[in-house]
Amino acid sequence: MDKQNRKAIIAGNWKMNKTATEAAELIDALIPAVKDAGCEVVICVPFTDLVTAVAKTKGTNIHVGAENVHFEKSGAFTGEISADMLVDLGVEYVVIGHSERRQYFAETNETVNKRARAALAAGLKPIICVGESLDQREQGVTEELVRMQVKIALNGVTADELKNVVIAYEPIWAIGTGKTATSEQAQEVCEGIRAVIRKIYGARPARAVSILYGGSMNAKNAYELLAQPDIDGGLIGGASLKPVDFATIIAASNQE
Ligand code: PGA
Repeated sequence: MDKQNRKAIIAGNWKMNKTATEAAELIDALIPAVKDAGCEVVICVPFTDLVTAVAKTKGTNIHVGAENVHFEKSGAFTGEISADMLVDLGVEYVVIGHSERRQYFAETNETVNKRARAALAAGLKPIICVGESLDQREQGVTEELVRMQVKIALNGVTADELKNVVIAYEPIWAIGTGKTATSEQAQEVCEGIRAVIRKIYGARPARAVSILYGGSMNAKNAYELLAQPDIDGGLIGGASLKPVDFATIIAASNQE
C-alpha cells in the first residue's frame, strides 16, 4: 500500500494562542501524552513560543513548526521573520498559506509560492495549506481551485525539494466551525491534490508526498478521516490545544 510508505503526520496549529509560559505548561502535558505516537508529531506555535517549544521538546518525539515565514532572507521588513531565523532556533516545519492568512493578511497564491520556496531553500519543511470557501464549494469549483492553489504554490519547487513538502487540505468552511468535511469529500480533494502532483512530478513523487486534512478534526471524527487512502494525517487547530484530544487523534492515525 502506498499509504504505508508515506509519513503520517499529525500537526497541531496553535494559531494565536498560548503565551510562552502557557506553552511550556501545554508541552509538559503533551510530552507524555504523545510519546508512543506511531506518526510524526508536530506542533506549530506562535513565534514567541518557538524558543520554549524547541527547548522543551528536545529529546522527545515532538517536532516544532512556525505558523508563517517571510520570503526575503533579511532586510527592511519590519515585523517579519525569515526562514534562516527559524532554522537557527531549531524549527523544522512551517505552516504556509493558512486560510486565515489568506483571508486577513493578504496572502495570495503567489506569496505562498515565494514563502514555500524560501522555506525549502533554508531547509524548512513547509506545510502548504489549500482549500475552498463555502461559496466556492457551492459553485462547484473546489477541484479547479485547489488544483490551481497547489500548482502555483509548487511553481519552481524541484522534485528533490518536494520530498520536504507537506500539503494540507483545509476547506475554509470547516475550520474552527465544528463542521467537518465528510471523509468522502476530504478524500476526493486529497486524491485530486495527489493527481496534480503526479502530473507535475510523476507517479513516484506523488505517491510519496504526505497530504493532511484539516478543519475541525477531533477525537471523534479523526479515525474515519485518517482511514482514507489519500489522507496521511491532520492539521489540527482547536483540538491540538487539548492534550488528551490531540493524543487520541494521534492514536487514530496509527491504524494500519
Ligand atoms: P480547527 O483548525 O481544527 O480548529 O478547525 C484547523 C486549522 O485551521 O488548521
